[in-house]
Formats: sequence, structure tokens, C-alpha cells
Amino acid sequence: MHYQLFLFICTIALVRSLPQGAPSSVCQTMMPFHGGGIRPQGGLPPYNVVPRRQGGQVFVTVTSSLGIPFQGFLLQGRTPNGEILGQFDSSSVNEGHPLDCGEAADSITHNSPNDKNSIDVLWTPPKGYEGPVIFNATIAQAYDTFWVGVESNPVDITNRGANDPQFAFPTQSNSPTPPNYSPPEVKESAAEFDPFYQGCSFSKLCFGSPANCIDSKNCKSAVAVSVAGDKYDFELKAESGAAWVGVGLSDDDRMGDDSVIECVKRGNGIAAFMSYTKGKPNYGAPRLSNPQLGIQILNGSIIDGTIYCRVRRDALTNVNGTIFDLLSQKYYLLIASGSKVRANSVAFHDLSYLASAESQALSDVSSLAPKSKLLIRLHGSFMIAAWLGTASLGILLARYYRQTWVGSQVLGKDVWFSWHRTFMVLTWALTMAAFVLIFVELKAWSGENNPHAILGLVTTILCFFQPIGAYFRPHPGTAKRPLFNWLHWGLGNAAHIIAIVTLFFAVKLTKAELPEFVDWILVAYVVVHVISHLLLSIMNCVAEKSSERRVSSFPMKDLGGSGKSSAYADRSADAPFSTFRRAWLAIYILIILAIVVALIVITALAPIEESWSNFKSSVINKN
Ligand SMILES: *[C@@H]1O[C@H](CO)[C@@H](O)[C@H](O)[C@H]1NC(C)=O
Ligand SMILES: *[C@@H]1O[C@H](CO)[C@@H](O)[C@H](O)[C@H]1NC(C)=O
Ligand SMILES: *[C@@H]1O[C@H](CO)[C@@H](O)[C@H](O)[C@H]1NC(C)=O
Repeated sequence: MHYQLFLFICTIALVRSLPQGAPSSVCQTMMPFHGGGIRPQGGLPPYNVVPRRQGGQVFVTVTSSLGIPFQGFLLQGRTPNGEILGQFDSSSVNEGHPLDCGEAADSITHNSPNDKNSIDVLWTPPKGYEGPVIFNATIAQAYDTFWVGVESNPVDITNRGANDPQFAFPTQSNSPTPPNYSPPEVKESAAEFDPFYQGCSFSKLCFGSPANCIDSKNCKSAVAVSVAGDKYDFELKAESGAAWVGVGLSDDDRMGDDSVIECVKRGNGIAAFMSYTKGKPNYGAPRLSNPQLGIQILNGSIIDGTIYCRVRRDALTNVNGTIFDLLSQKYYLLIASGSKVRANSVAFHDLSYLASAESQALSDVSSLAPKSKLLIRLHGSFMIAAWLGTASLGILLARYYRQTWVGSQVLGKDVWFSWHRTFMVLTWALTMAAFVLIFVELKAWSGENNPHAILGLVTTILCFFQPIGAYFRPHPGTAKRPLFNWLHWGLGNAAHIIAIVTLFFAVKLTKAELPEFVDWILVAYVVVHVISHLLLSIMNCVAEKSSERRVSSFPMKDLGGSGKSSAYADRSADAPFSTFRRAWLAIYILIILAIVVALIVITALAPIEESWSNFKSSVINKN
């Protein structure tokens, strides 16, 4: 917002600084007052000024070959010596108004800093003028990004051709003309022939996310680096729905202090910027104060929601005090894409993100392996096994199976108790291991805007203290026992519920690469778990009523505080429906086991869709 305002102010300043009839220096240099210190962009502008003769007049079009909209412009007709001449017809353009540099309406500028894809304006030469005229423009893509001296090819004004409707295009040109951009033809099955992947591993270095997608040509985001003389060309591409794609050059395999080239959707086109990743704690990639430092965009397109760009980058750049030397240094590549952009930077990489396993010289076109995701997968698998598997079973046993297998003991303890303890110790061990693994992997707090991390931390803390509390539990019948039982039950269940919610949030994590349908497996788990609790609770009520005995199957029952709980008196035989309970336990274990195995397979092979299609194609290739 603010730069648009500045641009507007600058327009006013420009007008103010041009008193009628007195050509000021701005008229000659065409430098906008953009904060004074901001320098114009070097390199090839992504805009063209195209003149078209029409009778004795000239139609001038300012447009972007790459479809990048612009916010401001200043346009003049000039002789090759730089004398301003002619007159613009302001009624021919509604995005601009004339300025008087020497003569009335010999220059034209924008009315507002709104995005413009192109402007057309009619220009009339002075009476009797014969000779070439060059249209010279300053074009501002944004407040801090503008090009000065964008010249058209010269047009010959001849009186004799005044009525000649033919277009005249002199061939000689000394202006930097951007590569011609022809709107892409009708998409011819992009999947079958995608030029992006042509040359990967033999003429360019390619890297993409998800892992190994370059071979299967189905990357969500990808970069291809090739050498272009003493510079480097970066081609970037991101699939449907992406609003930006970026590549980071890093000295390690994680974000922080990396030089980023980002291609960002702007209007109907693509703009390229340089940004710099900040490390922890607030990851992000603010743009450089000169967002075009050392780069120039050569091509860009959006076809069917797939963004593509080609950016040429100098081998040597000084990015915020750090020298990036592509010629002699090796870099890790980080590739990322996201669906949202902010006003002056890209938003979180919610669509894809992958780091390479090693650093490599960018001129080395051999393939680049992705960073291993083993630790993330182990973290997920351990947490699934712990909270869907062992915790669910342990809690169920403690709550409903105290009056089952009465009489038999395992290692001197009741059957339910020793299994409860076994499952809960497993839960604890898996949770602590998974917690350590994720911090070894990330080495920092998660940068993703998702409550998974904080909920996981709460679960882990609750879980951590459960066995300690249990170890120091007061003896049954003592005054403090009811308090322990309530705390143990309450905290344990809280941890379990928060853990399940945390698992639901894990599905949304970019890093987890889980398919949406995992949500439904989790819902199935919740349904099975709730039904089990309902069924077993109903059984207990019925059992109590029919036998008129007080059964201590509900853990709260022995907490009346009276100390003479009837529960212990009845511990001579199984409560009624013992057979049903055992059968249900068997069913429950089978279902839980199936869910846990399914989810661990999905987590371990994530992204499972890719693994599946790779598997299918490998089977087809064999046959
Ligand atoms: C166009 O403007 C630039 C920047 O002021 C200047 O260097 C160049 O000479 C101008 N071209 C002509 C033909 O006046
Ligand atoms: C550049 O570095 C300075 C400190 O060295 C830091 O404050 C600033 O945020 C950095 N700029 C970017 C774009 O990262
Ligand atoms: C720009 O990209 C389009 C489509 O990807 C391609 O057809 C065209 O040849 C490219 N132009 C240049 C100069 O690379």
C-alpha cells in the first residue's frame, strides 16, 4: 500500500517540479523522485515501447512482453539527440495525462498507480518535422522497481508518407529489446512433453519437490540451473495453484541466511525478485532493498495455473553483506512454492518445500539428491503408534477391564494393570523418542503456522509427568489416593485427546506430505474409540444393575473418599459380561492395529500418491 501512495505523491512531485514551459532536469533525465536514493534497475527491462505509424501520427504502446503489470510511466518522443518533441493526445488514453516539458503535452504520465497491463497513446509530430523519432520511457513496476530510458525502435517521420497507412519498422535498433514473448499455444499435453525437464542431468542441474519428481516429471515445484556465459539461468516452475515459486541458495540444508530468487504471480504475469531468508525464530523471506539485484527475468508464463519463469543471475552478488559466488562456491538448493503472497514478500511455502541433501556447484549438472526425511517419518510413525495404538489400549484396559481376568496375575500384578503399565510405558517411550527426533530434524521451533507444534508440546509435557506421578502413587485406601486417581485419569485423558487433535493438525503440515484422506482414517479411529467407550460403559451399568453389586470397573468408584470402597470386596470373580468384554477387546485391538499400520505406511511412504504412481509406472514398465 505505502509504495502506491508514494508513487502517487511522486506523480504530484513530478507535476509540481515542471512549471509550465520550463524543462526541468526531470524532463531530461526522466528519473522519478522515488525516495531520492532508489536507483533504477539495470539490465533488460521486462517492458517494451512499441511505436506504430498511423498516417502522420504514431500509436505508441507500452506493455510487458512477460505480462507484468506496471504502475507508473513517463513517456516522451525524442530525436536521436534527445530533444523532446511532438505532442501526445491525452484523449487517446484514459490512464494518463499530459505534462509540458518544453511544449504543451510533449510528455505523458500515469494518472494513478493502479496496475496497468498496457497503455496505448497517440502522438503527433511537430508540423514539418522529418526524421527519426525515438520514444523514451520510464516505467515503474512498483515504487522501488523502475526502469529508466526504455527506448523504442526509431520511427521515421516523413511528410511524403504522411498519408501512407503502412507501418514503418526501421530495422536498426540500439535499444535493449527483451526476448520476444509469444503467448504459449494451446497446451499440448504438458505431461507428455514438458520442455522444463529436457536436459535435466546432462545440460542442466534440476531439483524438485517432492523427492525424485524430476525423473517422473511431476514436480510440484522445481528448479533447473544452467550456465549462460558468465551468468546462470534459473528456470523455476510450480504446479497448479501456486502463487509463487522460489529457490534458495544455502550453505546448509535448512532455511536461514539464504539468497532466494522468487518468481511471483503479478496480474497476468510473473515478476522475479531477490529475497533473503531470515533464520529462526521468525522464518520468512523479506525482499532485498534492491529486489532486482543481479537478476533479470527473461521469460515468464502462467499456463493452466502452472507458473514458469526463467531468470538470469550474475555469478557474483553481494546479498545483504554476504557474497554469493555461484562460480566457485557450492550451495544446497532449497525449492519451495506457496499459494499466497503478501504485499512485499511471499507467504509460507504451503504447497511444497524440499532441501537438497548436499551442496553442489551449480555448473555441475549431475543430479541432486533430496534431503532424507527419515527423522520426520519416524517422528510421525512413533506418535501414531503411541497415541492411536498403545495409549488407546492402555486407557481402555484401565477403565473397563479391572474386573476381567480376576485371579490371574502377571508378574505379581493384576492382568489389566500390568498391560496398562506396559502400554503406557511404551506410549511414554515412543512419545519422548518422537519428540527428540523432531527437534534433531528441525533444530528449531517449527516455522509453520499450524497448532500442531504447540499441541504436541502440551501432549509431550503431560505425557512426561504421567509415569512419574504413577510411580509415587499413594496406596489404595489412603487419603491422597482419590486425588491421585483423579489426576492420573484426568491428565492421561487430556493428553490422549490433545494428541488426537494434534494428529489431525499433522495432516495439514507441508512437511508431513500426508494426503487429505488421512483425516477420514482418523475420524474412523475416533468413531471406533467412542463406540468402544459407550458400549463398555453401558455394559458396566447393566452389570451393576443386574448383579446389584458395586463393581469397581469405573476407576472413580473407589474414590468416594470413604476408604471402605466396596470395590475391593468384590474382587473375587470377573464382573458379568466378561466374555463379551474380552471379545470386544480382541475386535478393538484388530481395528486399532489396522488403523495404526495403515497410517504408518502412509507416513513412511509420504507422499503416498507419488509413491503409488511411481510403483504403478514401474510395474507397467516391467511388463
Ligand atoms: C532516454 O532516456 C535515457 C535516460 O534519461 C537517456 O540516457 C537516453 O539518452 C534517452 N534517449 C534518447 C533518444 O533521448
Ligand atoms: C540484512 O542484514 C541486517 C543485519 O545484518 C538485518 O537487520 C536485515 O534485516 C537484513 N535484511 C534482509 C533483507 O534480510
Ligand atoms: C518463453 O516461454 C515460452 C513458453 O514456456 C516459450 O514458448 C518461449 O520460447 C520462451 N521464450 C524464450 C525467449 O525463452
